[in-house]
Amino acid sequence: MNNDLLPPAMIAIYPGSFDPITLGHLDIIERGSKLFDRVVVAVLRNPGKSPLFTVEQRLRQIQTATQHLPHVEVDSFDGLTVDYANLIGAKVLLRGLRVMSDFEKELQMAHTNKTLSKEIETVFLATSTEHGFLSSSIVKEIAKFNGSINHLVPDHVAAEMYQSYQNQAPKQ
Ligand code: PNS
Repeated sequence: MNNDLLPPAMIAIYPGSFDPITLGHLDIIERGSKLFDRVVVAVLRNPGKSPLFTVEQRLRQIQTATQHLPHVEVDSFDGLTVDYANLIGAKVLLRGLRVMSDFEKELQMAHTNKTLSKEIETVFLATSTEHGFLSSSIVKEIAKFNGSINHLVPDHVAAEMYQSYQNQAPKQ
């Protein structure tokens, strides 16, 4: 077959803070990886925030959580998301939608990104029902007060969170 006839690989980036990655994020990554040739999970280096985990810790956490997914890569970026997307040849920004309040923020972000780079499309995936309430902030709050988070984040992330808060993992 003439390779020139093949469409170019469709690369999507899944940008975010991922402080830390949750099972909701992982669900979007797994489902996105079935739709696109490559999904690059892109962690924003955001000096304006004081995160629980460093970017390097988050990259490792995501790498471990996605090692079963061959078409998924993990990277970090700073600056505008569309600039990073253009740099690596990604045409799609993948985002998850949980509730109506996400929609307003996400739509504004998608419109902004469209004005910045016309060729890049934002694709939304509806979060699976069981993860509709889940966010990194909620997980941090529960872990801080030593509640159970094992149903919310990958096991290795749960262990690191309890360690960060110097808490023992609660008895199940
Ligand atoms: O996980 P988050 O915090 O909801 O992710 C938000 C993120 C990182 C995707 C968004 O803040 C972002 O794209 N920041 C980079 C700066 C940028 O491109 N701003 C213009 C779009 S609003």
